[in-house]
Amino acid sequence: MTRAAVLTGLGGWIPPVRVTNEQLAEQLDTTDEWITTRTGIRERFVVEPGTATSDLAVHAGRRALESAGVDGVDVLVLATSTPDHPCPATAPTVANRLGLGPIPAFDVAAVCTGFVYALATAAGLIAGGTARSALVIGADAFSTILNPEDRTTRAIFGDGAGAVVLRAGDAAEPGALLGFDLGSDGSQADLITVPGGGSAQPAASLTDRDDLYFAMQGRPVFRNAVTRMADSSRRLAERIGWPLDAVDRLVAHQANVRILTAVGGELGLTAERIVVNLDRVGNTVAASVPLALVDAVHSGELAAGQRTLLCGFGGGLTWGATGLVLPELTVRPLPGLTDRTLTGPAAGARI
Ligand code: COA
Repeated sequence: MTRAAVLTGLGGWIPPVRVTNEQLAEQLDTTDEWITTRTGIRERFVVEPGTATSDLAVHAGRRALESAGVDGVDVLVLATSTPDHPCPATAPTVANRLGLGPIPAFDVAAVCTGFVYALATAAGLIAGGTARSALVIGADAFSTILNPEDRTTRAIFGDGAGAVVLRAGDAAEPGALLGFDLGSDGSQADLITVPGGGSAQPAASLTDRDDLYFAMQGRPVFRNAVTRMADSSRRLAERIGWPLDAVDRLVAHQANVRILTAVGGELGLTAERIVVNLDRVGNTVAASVPLALVDAVHSGELAAGQRTLLCGFGGGLTWGATGLVLPELTVRPLPGLTDRTLTGPAAGARI
């Protein structure tokens, strides 16, 4: 039997500052109606000044360890595109703060596909025998790199962190990650970018501070998101031997409800099979897929035994998918969302 990575714990965290569409409309030339109908997003949560990605990651990581009932792992992989600092990586700080000892800890940068890439990396370390267990965290504080005057990006993105614990097991067990489909297209790297602050345009050399802000070309990103996630999901399902109509739930990157609806349409998946929580948290980048998992498991929308396909798409461009039969999981609700009644897949986000 092939040594597989088996998911045993899940946790998520969002920061305390809730920003509603109405609040954005007070600051920018936008409306609740535009944001809701064009994206499905109603609110997002952002960090207070001084809170960094590692702070979010530590909360989510601790919750995932608790959920798995363990206090240590062999490796930590952190997916983020908003590291605490350009150098060093954020993962060693997170491992240290979680008391995980001198384990290997490193960052993976694949923007909104980061969590799926990090899962594949950790699963490979487990399959190869380098690690028997892993903590995989997706965490981003994207609000820290948004232009405060950009109504498009500020409407879409929120901050958060989600995490899972993996352990070595076999592919027949519930929770085993059954395979991966991963890809990239660097010819379209400029569709999603922070132009400055890296080695190509060092921060100290910039004449325009706007080059330090995140920039996105919405329409081509939208089109790519639909086709890349649908194609990746299709390839993955074929690779692991699942007919698409046997997929119980699709947990795809939460960028725009219209993207999710279109991906569902391409794959022939009915609306109730598509997990949506972006109405409540926005696009949380590397945290998006695990936060959708947390919400769906907590609400009961996603239950043990369901064939679950995880799929990401993001800057790079990058994309990826994996599949698992959901195991029994104990999950704490996201802070700040406990007062909400989660009413099923759409939870008010369908348009
Ligand atoms: N409020 C009001 N108007 C807005 C707006 C906002 N928050 N954001 C953009 N607009 C305006 C635009 O300026 C444009 O105005 P114009 O016609 O006068 O130039 C108009 O709305 C239409 O813009 P467009 O970009 O064509 O709209 P759209 O229907 O494509 O929706 C996005 C814009 C960003 C919501 C959509 O393209 C999208 O979701 N793209 C993918 C984003 C994404 O997923 N990013 C992360 C991927 S990992």
